[in-house]
Amino acid sequence: MQIADRMNFIQNSVFANLRKDKEQYEQQHHQQVLDFTLGSPNIPPAPNVIQTLSNQAQIARNYRYAVDPLNELIDTISEWYFNRYQVRLTADEICLLQGSQEALVNLPLLYCNPGDGILVQNPYYPAYVDAPHIAQADILFMPLKEEHDYLIDFDAISPIQRQKAKMMIVCYPNNPTGATAPDWFIEKLIRFAKENDILVIYDNAYSDLIFDGSKGKSFLSFDGAKEVGIELNSFSKSYGMAGARLGVMVGNETVIAQYRKLKSNLDYGVFLPVQYAGIEALQTGSKIVEQTRQTYIERRQLLQQEFSKAGWAIELTKATMFIWAQIPDEYEDSYVFTKDLLFKTGVLVTPGLAFGQEGKRYVRLALVTENETICQAAKRFEQTQFFHSLTTSD
Ligand SMILES: Cc1ncc(COP(=O)(O)O)c(C=O)c1O
Repeated sequence: MQIADRMNFIQNSVFANLRKDKEQYEQQHHQQVLDFTLGSPNIPPAPNVIQTLSNQAQIARNYRYAVDPLNELIDTISEWYFNRYQVRLTADEICLLQGSQEALVNLPLLYCNPGDGILVQNPYYPAYVDAPHIAQADILFMPLKEEHDYLIDFDAISPIQRQKAKMMIVCYPNNPTGATAPDWFIEKLIRFAKENDILVIYDNAYSDLIFDGSKGKSFLSFDGAKEVGIELNSFSKSYGMAGARLGVMVGNETVIAQYRKLKSNLDYGVFLPVQYAGIEALQTGSKIVEQTRQTYIERRQLLQQEFSKAGWAIELTKATMFIWAQIPDEYEDSYVFTKDLLFKTGVLVTPGLAFGQEGKRYVRLALVTENETICQAAKRFEQTQFFHSLTTSD
């Protein structure tokens, strides 16, 4: 059987490869690896959300296909967007998803013929490059530089790229860099999209995880946004529902209608108990969102304090559950550093190269570990003198 050409571009997830390295270390050293790689939140949903899911799962009629979403959930999403982001949405501007990943991967199929372009930030969340590959579209990278606060440099997008691009995928608060976008940037993004007739896919998975005191906004709260794009939002990070798949696409009515048409051929909706849990999460969840944010604040501070004592001075990112840290000068690239760190200390981080070429000199640490794990990692750095030996060899 000959696989299709497009499959040659789809890589095994970097996390699968890291898992192999992890197993090798554990077999050799008989010691558990302290793992800071995967961004799967370890903060559970609120007890009332779990209870709702459990109660609804006892009801036999909830096992039918859920082609049409619950009206009550659509109304609740509309209220949530108004109260949380001051954005008014009609039912035609809302599409329920099995997590936002689903739409990220499928949206290019709506607007891209083979050979059309998709503007993608680099570094990127891996689905942003898998999606164009599936649609056989060309990826047009937009490098994000630390010296520009990891914001897209619109002036660097060439006339040819502008003409070729049908869509652009934009994510702030950004995974993996942890950067946020100021208002002027979003205004510029909307102008750029309008002038060049490019659809904006705005990935807003982390709007509740900002740590400088500011409140994350919706892309749609800016004038003209609904004309040029849609926003994806997620229940995974704010409400701890990553495995109970639930997300939402909101914004441009035409895009939503087209996506619904595609989706009607792909799946039969979100499991009803998960929809009920989503209603419960949105109606009662503001306290849990605040607690989640506080938990990350504590972990970030602890990590910075303990790692710096052990010789790894880390600058905190502004947002998200990730730290985007530069690798020491002594290392050629982030893959080499990651392997050395793992096999010398038993601590695993994600090499920035897994998120594109712009991640060559960075690694990403996901703060989805308990405080205890952070302290243990710092202890291993101390015991092995991993970072101290680098700095004293200068
Ligand atoms: C930037 C970004 N977008 C989308 C997703 C997918 O989220 P969901 O669980 O809603 O599919 C993630 C998950 O880690 C993410 O980091």
